[in-house]
Amino acid sequence: ATIHDQTLVRGNGGELHQLAEGDTPVLTTAQGAPVADDQNSLRAGARGPALIDDFHFREKIFHFDHERIPERVVHARGYGAHGFFEAYDVLSKYTRADLFQRPGERTPAFVRFSTVAGAKGSFDLARDVRGFAVKIYTQEGNWDLVGNNIPVFFIQDPIKFPDVIHAVKPEPDRGFPQAQSAHDNFWDFISLTPESMHMIMWVMSDRAIPRSFRFMEGFGVHTFRLLDEADESTFVKFIWKPKLGLQSVVWNEAVKINGADPDFHRRDLWNAIQSGDFPEWELCVQLFDQEFADSFDFDVLDPTKLIPEEIIKPIPVGRLVLDRMPDNFFAETEQVAFMTQNVPPGIDFSNDPLLQGRNFSYLDTQLKRLGGPNFTHIPINAPKCPFAHFQQDGHMAMRNPVGRVNYQPNSHGVGPREDPARGFRAFAEEIEAPKVRLRPESFADHYSQARQFFDSQTAPEQKHIVMALTFELAKVENPVIRERMVAHLLNIDEALGATVADKLGIKELPKPADAAVTPRDDLPPSPALSIIEN
Ligand code: HEM
Repeated sequence: ATIHDQTLVRGNGGELHQLAEGDTPVLTTAQGAPVADDQNSLRAGARGPALIDDFHFREKIFHFDHERIPERVVHARGYGAHGFFEAYDVLSKYTRADLFQRPGERTPAFVRFSTVAGAKGSFDLARDVRGFAVKIYTQEGNWDLVGNNIPVFFIQDPIKFPDVIHAVKPEPDRGFPQAQSAHDNFWDFISLTPESMHMIMWVMSDRAIPRSFRFMEGFGVHTFRLLDEADESTFVKFIWKPKLGLQSVVWNEAVKINGADPDFHRRDLWNAIQSGDFPEWELCVQLFDQEFADSFDFDVLDPTKLIPEEIIKPIPVGRLVLDRMPDNFFAETEQVAFMTQNVPPGIDFSNDPLLQGRNFSYLDTQLKRLGGPNFTHIPINAPKCPFAHFQQDGHMAMRNPVGRVNYQPNSHGVGPREDPARGFRAFAEEIEAPKVRLRPESFADHYSQARQFFDSQTAPEQKHIVMALTFELAKVENPVIRERMVAHLLNIDEALGATVADKLGIKELPKPADAAVTPRDDLPPSPALSIIEN
């Protein structure tokens, strides 16, 4: 870095002024008026009261006072980078989405990684889910795949989202804990929400303390649809696989890193990209049809379930490379607005109720966070393909329709016009059903996939789950909540439940929790249980 050796001029109070000279531009107000003195506010006499005529002082302070926007209600702490997506093959057999038609062509992308529970200034190595939100600026509009590094979610119905988030965030009277799930409210809610058990096993595993963003998988979680030219549908789950593989830290490392460098994940991504070591992920798809969906053991619309990769192998269809850091953190990473409803023609939603709730929530929250309906005018959110519509006015409008016509149909011969052939068409699913508030029975087994996940872990990984559960539940003050959790764990795996109970000093094992459906027991027993028994 160069230190500029500029002439310093001393003011009459001894203060130092750097004056415009050579190529250095003149400082102006936001209105463009040149500023003569940026060190002294205008006063009646040198020791007198400040004067309200000082428009430069007032503008400078007013602007500073308004620098903060609300942090995201969840995923407040995040870090983003630019890059590109490149398809490997023509996918026209499954989707007409333009970005999958020309292999090797680069489509610009922006990714924001995040934690969920902590505030904007919290530390990076919290035990938490990581957001993995990708915006791809396709030629047919922005596609936002707003995913996490865990393939399932806590809840099945979006009406529960405010509750799960209230429960995980700081308790309202005391305002702590800030960034960890280790507290009564969180475990109270979880112990009363059996559908969260599968997700909880992932959150208590090493997946929730990744070594770096560069070593994480990303999951779209929900089942989506791909639609071809003829509007034929194929179900799809999206998965990002890191080229570097998966790596986590262990809890003791996480605790030390948080103390020594709370920006550990940010710094890692910044350093990697700045030194040309560009992280890369493959986009993989699990494709299946209605027949598979009807025969699968779980409901493909249930976001607390996954489709095991041994049953449907993820096929790599393209790659995402991150090769450029934002020029400005606020303008790009803070103002980027991801929304699940941003899909191009050829990608559509399934009836996963959580996905449909999200499709409402993200638009609503961006209106509040970014201050009005024109947040698509902010460069990081604007499409990078031609676009034209008659939306106008509102706060901060940067683009309005030009000329006399701002409606259609019109007789002026002025577009934009609809295009049934190229435009977005939703899958014409037949629906005839009573209006009800009911969970389907096919959503009722909350334990089998939790067990499947636990069984899939190696012995040291299982041990980490036991340690995490013990650490977290030991912080819970109310013994009833602890016992309720043990009752759930017994349904997931008897030895797991018994070991955690023992470590928590629970003398008498509770009865396993009432399960609406008997968990499946045809999954192979865990080979590693002996390790965790003591
Ligand atoms: C933000 C993922 C469920 C509401 C986010 C972000 C991610 C994410 C990655 C951060 C986006 C960013 O980096 O800017 C997920 C996943 C979910 C899920 C994978 C379940 C599978 C939900 C649900 C709701 C919801 C059910 C509400 C019904 C929000 C809101 C934000 C958010 C309000 C803040 C957005 C902003 O201010 O930019 N979510 N979320 N999410 N999510 Fe979700």
